[in-house]
Amino acid sequence: MQVVKYMFQPHGDERGQLVALEEFKDIPFQIKRVYYMYDTIDGVTRGKHAHKKLEQILICIHGSCKVRLDNGVEKKVVPLEKPYEGLYIANNMWREMYDFSPDAVLMVLASELYDESDYIRDYDEFLKMVEEEKK
Ligand code: TYD
Repeated sequence: MQVVKYMFQPHGDERGQLVALEEFKDIPFQIKRVYYMYDTIDGVTRGKHAHKKLEQILICIHGSCKVRLDNGVEKKVVPLEKPYEGLYIANNMWREMYDFSPDAVLMVLASELYDESDYIRDYDEFLKMVEEEKK
């Protein structure tokens, strides 16, 4: 499994840092939605789903967390701990976010508006879909 991480360009000067993200330039899709998680309770695992169509970029803009990616065959753990790095997650990928530091703010840029019908929340259903895709 290939992990696709984006290193964004920080515009640093004597005042500090700034990262700007533009769709189709820094981000490989049109950004239709942005959401973020914070005050995540210690020990919590979020996500635990895949998407049929949605593509996302995850950026831990403060603090740190880990992302477990699972394509149904292989699993990889990706730590996110810099505000200038983004993890690209394609469709048909099971993801779990965990090990949030108390100060973590995990921001997600998404290619589609919120649509519950795009979610696969059952792991066995996900594995079945991966098998179907192979045929
Ligand atoms: P949920 O899917 O459980 O989050 P996670 O995948 O991180 O575990 O979403 C939590 C709640 O927020 C749920 O009630 C749905 C709502 N929600 C929206 O209204 N819009 C969104 O874009 C997202 C991602 C969630």
